Amino acid sequence: MTPPKLQQIYQDAPYLSIKYDTYFPVYEALLAKYRGQSITLVEVGIFNGGSLFMWREFLGPEARIIGVDLNPDAKEWEKHGFEIYIGDQGNEQFWKDFFRKTGPVDVVIDDGGHTNLQQVVTTHHAIPQIRDGGLLIVEDVHTNYFREFGNPYKYSFLNFAFRIVDGINSRAFALRSSYTRYSSKVYSISFFESIVAFHIDSRLCVRSKPTANGGRTRDASDFRYQNVVQSALSSFKTRLPTDRRGVMAVICRGLRFLADTALFVLSRMETVKYKRFFSKSD
Ligand SMILES: C[S@@+](CC[C@H](N)C(=O)[O-])C[C@H]1O[C@@H](n2cnc3c(N)ncnc32)[C@H](O)[C@@H]1O
Repeated sequence: MTPPKLQQIYQDAPYLSIKYDTYFPVYEALLAKYRGQSITLVEVGIFNGGSLFMWREFLGPEARIIGVDLNPDAKEWEKHGFEIYIGDQGNEQFWKDFFRKTGPVDVVIDDGGHTNLQQVVTTHHAIPQIRDGGLLIVEDVHTNYFREFGNPYKYSFLNFAFRIVDGINSRAFALRSSYTRYSSKVYSISFFESIVAFHIDSRLCVRSKPTANGGRTRDASDFRYQNVVQSALSSFKTRLPTDRRGVMAVICRGLRFLADTALFVLSRMETVKYKRFFSKSD
């Protein structure tokens, strides 16, 4: 028998929960692998309690469900078998005390106050405490476009998430400058409408290295640069020796820098051909 869909479980929950309808397929896809597992799920934002019951029904009786809310009345949900912590998700000390008590967890869902401060502080403190194979899901990130939340803003949660994207790419061969403290924990990030999901797996956060399969070569030319100037600059650069010492090494480094700068300028000049795709409409 196929297990009931999340949206059906939500409809049948004994207490009120409020979710946008587009969230159900997202949650279904992200959380299906945890059904029937003895995982620990934390939800920030309890409100009327309905979502705590929904998660328990969806994941099964083996799951440990923890709720967090600023409202002390939420403690009443403990009598239904949930672990409840009262505190401010925007307060760093709260998270330090919280994880000291709970230990590492598998899934954190942030459906709390949705401010930049709350989303960033929760993300910063949750990522190191999520086990490999786990998830941090931040809900209602459309608030990152709301004026009353101080947005759009350089220091919005979404810009923080984009910074973590840079950190993921810092694992690419020959790139290091965009490394962040999250680069060795966040394997990937999924962006959905109003939801950002951080996939946690330190085992997969490795530095990439170039490989070749050893197959037969036909000595094909790399046609990356159709422009003759770019093509000449690129092949000039790759032919400069890297094993020189002393004055020759300095000269080669200087020539490589000049070639790179010329390629940079030529790449920037191409912007004119695609810049219009960045506007809201043609
Ligand atoms: C959108 S409701 C949660 C809805 C619930 N998850 C559901 O699906 O029905 C937001 C909740 O976050 C709580 N909250 C707001 N600011 C908070 C903060 N700074 N720390 C912890 N909880 C907060 C509110 O008290 C409220 O219960």
